[in-house]
Amino acid sequence: QAVLTRLPSPSLFGSDIDPVLLAAAYQTRSRFRFALTDPKKQRFEVPHENVGPFSGPAASNLKYKVDVQQNPFGIKVTRASNGKVLFDTTIGPLLYAEQFLQLSIKLPSSNVYGVGEHVHKQYQHDVRWKTWPIFSRDAAPSANMDNLYGVQTFFLCLEDNTGASLGVFLMNSNAMEFALQPAPAVTYRTTGGILDFYVFLGDTPEQVVQEYVKFIGLPALPSYWTLGFHLSRYDYGSLDAVKAVVERNRAIGLPYDVQYTDIDYMEGRKDFTYDKVNFKDLPSFQTYMHDYGQKYIIILDPAISTEALADGSSYQAYERGQSKKVWVNESDGVTPLVGEVWPGRTVFPDFTNPDCTSWWTEECKIFYNQVPYDGIWIDMNEVANFVQGSSNGCEQNELNYPPFTPHVVDRLLYSKTLCMDAVQKWGRHYDVHNLFGYSMTLSTQRAIETLFPGKRSFLLSRSTFAGSGKYAGHWLGDNAATWDHIKWAIPGMLEFGLFGIPYVGADICGFYENVTEELCRRWMQVGAFYPFSRNHNTKKCTPQDPAAFGADSVLVKSSKHYLNIRYTLLPYLYTLFYKAHTQGDTVARPVLHEFYSDEATWSVDKQFLWGPGLLITPVLDPGVDIVQAYVPDAVWYDYDSGAKIWLRKQWTQMYLPADKMGLHLRGGYVFPFQQPATTTVASRKNPMGLIIALDDNNEAAGELFWDDGESTGEPLSAS
Ligand code: NOJ
Repeated sequence: QAVLTRLPSPSLFGSDIDPVLLAAAYQTRSRFRFALTDPKKQRFEVPHENVGPFSGPAASNLKYKVDVQQNPFGIKVTRASNGKVLFDTTIGPLLYAEQFLQLSIKLPSSNVYGVGEHVHKQYQHDVRWKTWPIFSRDAAPSANMDNLYGVQTFFLCLEDNTGASLGVFLMNSNAMEFALQPAPAVTYRTTGGILDFYVFLGDTPEQVVQEYVKFIGLPALPSYWTLGFHLSRYDYGSLDAVKAVVERNRAIGLPYDVQYTDIDYMEGRKDFTYDKVNFKDLPSFQTYMHDYGQKYIIILDPAISTEALADGSSYQAYERGQSKKVWVNESDGVTPLVGEVWPGRTVFPDFTNPDCTSWWTEECKIFYNQVPYDGIWIDMNEVANFVQGSSNGCEQNELNYPPFTPHVVDRLLYSKTLCMDAVQKWGRHYDVHNLFGYSMTLSTQRAIETLFPGKRSFLLSRSTFAGSGKYAGHWLGDNAATWDHIKWAIPGMLEFGLFGIPYVGADICGFYENVTEELCRRWMQVGAFYPFSRNHNTKKCTPQDPAAFGADSVLVKSSKHYLNIRYTLLPYLYTLFYKAHTQGDTVARPVLHEFYSDEATWSVDKQFLWGPGLLITPVLDPGVDIVQAYVPDAVWYDYDSGAKIWLRKQWTQMYLPADKMGLHLRGGYVFPFQQPATTTVASRKNPMGLIIALDDNNEAAGELFWDDGESTGEPLSAS
């Protein structure tokens, strides 16, 4: 510990804190933590389940060395093996005020990856003065540098071509900015809480991810069926329309496991109700799906309507929540904050309140008893509100109008969400806003454990925080049917791998806008290799489920071909998820994680791998059948023909006509497979086998994890 006193200098935003307490700990041989707090007053700290106290024995045999510089204060973390400075804050001053905290870090290289949630058009960051706002927000991904749904403050830095890498994580949930500079350096600039940094050292990028993910929470092992293909859309309009889509996609023999209904299944878009006219048979829909070996998922939004049902009867879920006082309150701490979301006038559950979790769990159960379902999709949990702050506006105070506002969308913190002075159990909305989706995930996980004892089920969340992956997957939100979006999905997906949320994908064929056959065909091809593979579409746009393009279309033929390959390789994919779940490996893996010694891979983001062994080269441009593709330094075999390709460590032109994408197996790996079928219930009964791809030495190795695909208990067998 050390006490830091402020050097004389003008105040930037007032309320400077002096002194500041530095506490640091050698937590493990590859993890160093230091925090800067106010010794005179308790400041907000993230009540994260994985943050422990500073006390405890110091680790030994450290991979790093730490030096603290005085006058001015700075902290340096050095790699013990080669003396390289990895993390150096002496590049800039520490600023510590009530609502403005800033620290800059000089880095050993400009190979920086991660931090979210944003559209990063490229996976490798551009360090030329780019400032990214971080604050959870209901905003559609676009070319703007907007803050999106989730909050991820972790980045990875590849030091050099030995693979040595470092990771940096700031445990802080306030609105902030992350600024990249060419030094190379980064600056975290946050509006509250404390500065609580974790530095991770690895010999490879994968090791850094493993270290980080073990710390924030290893990702959930998905149920096997959730690795199948999913179909969804907003506004089918009726259950008959849903069934017509299900039937036509069954009829073409599409590998397809999961069907969703969006908010249009509800009565007046109210959670825990269903439309008794247009979705009258919803109570038997799960059985209808199960009879074919398929599953059914419902959407739930946080906002709860305050209005009665259409027939005038009371809206029970609201009434019960009201009597248990489970809502987010206005600044007085007792009056529920009222806003507006899909159902009209709403209140917002405070998922940081244990009573709210009990109420939510109970409501999920009551609804399940009417309309059984297999998993839950949680949406709008940034938390989204269609009026600014509340229906009564927000007071003029330092929380709603802080002295410094990061470059967030609208430059207004309560825009499209709640007033910052709203009160929750964990603290003021100002401090806990970014934890809304995370807390809703924790509460919904409790509901799932109650509904499906001993089973893993399915949980998908739009808003995430560090550690969300322990319980939930994520989709990249409301993208559009454009060629930009099909490209941006790859960096997005790879980033969520770094954040410990490997079960991730983008809406295949795009959410907004009518998709063309060509774009949807190319998207179905690459989407067959998203860890979370779902085609989802918005209201009024033309149907984009594969069968809508006609049973004989190239799109259907190609979608079936690649989904069949997905289903064939599910034992391999499932094993990758097992490794993510037990040791924090990535699933959809950046090429550089396997081939870091080759600089050419450091910026590859139009291709990706499944684990170490399957190279995926999609077509991401219109009117194209030749793609510039990188062939990393290994032996590769074309998936379809089995032919060895005779080039390596170079760019090549891959010929990928309308019905084809690039898929290559890496020599040296064994891929467990199973004959595919149209559902995983059926495919799991089929014969299994091994694809053995030999390397230069005619050797190969691999692994298989196998169990019943849905239990939460100990694995039945593992090898
Ligand atoms: C926003 C979600 O991102 C989208 O996927 C969903 O269809 C709509 N809300 C309607 O629920």
